[in-house]
Amino acid sequence: MKRFLLVAIIALTSIFKSVAEEGMLIPSLIKAFESDMQAMGMKLTAQEIYDVNNSSLKDAILHFGGGCTAELVSGEGLLLTNHHCGYSQIQSHSSLENDYLKYGFWAKDKKEEKVNPGLTASRVVRIQDVTKDALFGTEGLQGLEFSNKIQKNIATLVADAENGTHYTAKIKPFNYGNEYYMIVKETFLDVRLVGTPPNSIGKFGGDTDNWIWPRHTGDFSVFRVYSNTSNEPAEYSESNVPYKPLHFLPVSVKNRVPGEFTMVYGFPGKTEQHLSSGNLKFYMDQERPARIKMREKSLSVIDAGMRSSDAIRIKYASKQARIANAWKKWIGQIGGLKTVDAMQIKLDREKVYNNSARGQKDWAMKYGSVIDDMNALVEKYKDVEFGYSMAIEYLYVGPELFGRARAMNEFLSAYSTLEENGELEAAIEKQIRGAKGFFKNYDENIDKEIFRLLTEEYVNQIGDGPLPDILKENSAEELTEIIYSKSILTNEERFMKFMNKLNSKSLDKLKKKDQGFKVWSGANDTFFKEVIPDVRVYHAQMEELLKAYVAGRMEMFPDEKMWADANSTMRITYGKLEGSAPHDGMKYTEHTTIDGIIAKNNTGNPDYELLPRMRELAKDKNYGDYAQDGELWVCFTGSNHTTGGNSGSPVIDGEGNLMGLNFDRSWESTMSDFMFDASRCRNITVDVRYVLWVMDIYSGAKHLVDEMTLVK
Ligand code: ARG
Ligand code: ASP
Repeated sequence: MKRFLLVAIIALTSIFKSVAEEGMLIPSLIKAFESDMQAMGMKLTAQEIYDVNNSSLKDAILHFGGGCTAELVSGEGLLLTNHHCGYSQIQSHSSLENDYLKYGFWAKDKKEEKVNPGLTASRVVRIQDVTKDALFGTEGLQGLEFSNKIQKNIATLVADAENGTHYTAKIKPFNYGNEYYMIVKETFLDVRLVGTPPNSIGKFGGDTDNWIWPRHTGDFSVFRVYSNTSNEPAEYSESNVPYKPLHFLPVSVKNRVPGEFTMVYGFPGKTEQHLSSGNLKFYMDQERPARIKMREKSLSVIDAGMRSSDAIRIKYASKQARIANAWKKWIGQIGGLKTVDAMQIKLDREKVYNNSARGQKDWAMKYGSVIDDMNALVEKYKDVEFGYSMAIEYLYVGPELFGRARAMNEFLSAYSTLEENGELEAAIEKQIRGAKGFFKNYDENIDKEIFRLLTEEYVNQIGDGPLPDILKENSAEELTEIIYSKSILTNEERFMKFMNKLNSKSLDKLKKKDQGFKVWSGANDTFFKEVIPDVRVYHAQMEELLKAYVAGRMEMFPDEKMWADANSTMRITYGKLEGSAPHDGMKYTEHTTIDGIIAKNNTGNPDYELLPRMRELAKDKNYGDYAQDGELWVCFTGSNHTTGGNSGSPVIDGEGNLMGLNFDRSWESTMSDFMFDASRCRNITVDVRYVLWVMDIYSGAKHLVDEMTLVK
């Protein structure tokens, strides 16, 4: 009997018991995982990973441009990140004469490095648990009173932390407000482009291979952080000097051993591990499929256009990539969640939670109904949330006509002030410049077709939900014909003519008569007046419930490995260098080689285009000192729990050396934003030895390799 009980207890608790690899851990708490990490082969101590008083690994890892991660690899501020993270900078320096996208770019010396206005890279100075101080005096307060008090506390704490320093502090809720952490950062403002491989390496595989293993992308680019002569952040100036980091990562050119310890240190954006079963079902059955369908319609038009003409291909390349990236990720997510039967797993976990909560009076009060409440809330608000997602797809991802309308609307609202201040002329100039840039990458026929298809789909999806009259009273067909033959927003010539003869009367006419503007303003008004307010209420109530739910997990299951959902703050995740077997009868090895690049190129798919040099070097097996057992590794996978924002993150070995740059996940892994599955979730890394090979052998930029510290 006793044994039976024990087995039952283990079975119950192990439902939550995560395997070693799950979780995105807060660096300041890494001590708690030190022994686990060491058991997996790590030689470092927690202090070497994160320390406030001495330099540590964390000082080599920067938040790049706010959305990616990058790492310092030399004493002179040399910084590595992904090619797709530096893409807009690379693109901005490219022209027909200097086609860095096609041929790559390597600064021969520091003088040739390229300035990037607006680009930042920040170092985390310290992470501090401020839960007590943030919540001080909030006992018994609720709603607005509660949040006002917290905001006041936070403002004081931030001001105190920033006082007398050049740092910025931010306090963020973790675990839905069960905890608050202050993150103090030092933000560098002069980050220059040092080098990039051509697209045929940095973007090799394009959309065909995006989110896919096996992978052969050399997804890296090189920057340098500059500071003033006191080694502190400063805006660009000629007198700035290379930043001297507190720590930079040595680079491992050692042989890799499958099964060896790996750690990813970076800035993951968002995960949603605690969604209730009802919410997961809503995403899987309704929300994601509808979004996927909307994007499929846009992509069908754009892809056909891009195939039909080079001009369209260039115009839509980056827009297509943006739309396709999430589209492909979502398809992988749903597929993965279905394959592992995530719904059943969720339901089982909810049962365990409820049984535990309802088994004790005090817990029953606090947690006994929280899951039911979450599911009921989803049910109540799911049309609202659905309307929100659809409006995002329609108004912000859909026809570009709406972007033009938004810009004109801002201009309209500012019109009289601009006129009074005598600033109208300049503002008109600015509008015209903006529009020129817009129309340069715009094709009327493509937008027309997207508008027609998405308007139809949007109206259809929303059904009885909130729609503006103009969409209820007119068919998509009619609107399309009128707008794309008459609206000033959809045609460059009409737009310029309008701007050149602008007066308050013509602006009034735009508002009242231009059907393109009216569809946008109607849909936009409906969105902000009828959808957004309810969405806010919904999200606030859900946050409250999630707060209670997570508190319950912490209290009732204190032995499970808990981790706070990603929120764009610095995290650590660890695992091993390993492949996976995501489907019955199918096995992925843990690494790819240059041979695979050539094989893919042989297929003739334009996503696998190469410059001749790659084939020449591969034919001669000219691998320099960068091969392992006669093979040049290109990418490898690991069981590290990553998400968007982890791009560019260093993959670090057991001794603190750089093994490669994280840049993606396999398709079967993308479900990890909701549920991590240790047997199938793998992050994809470009091996740093391939990075060095591209710099040194392929590009002749050996001086950069010489700047780094290689560990053999
Ligand atoms: N899937 C990678 C991550 O989300 C992006 C890779 C960029 N490449 C591309 N073909 N879109 O962001
Ligand atoms: N490619 C993603 C990024 O840009 C990483 C991921 O989602 O795994 O951050």
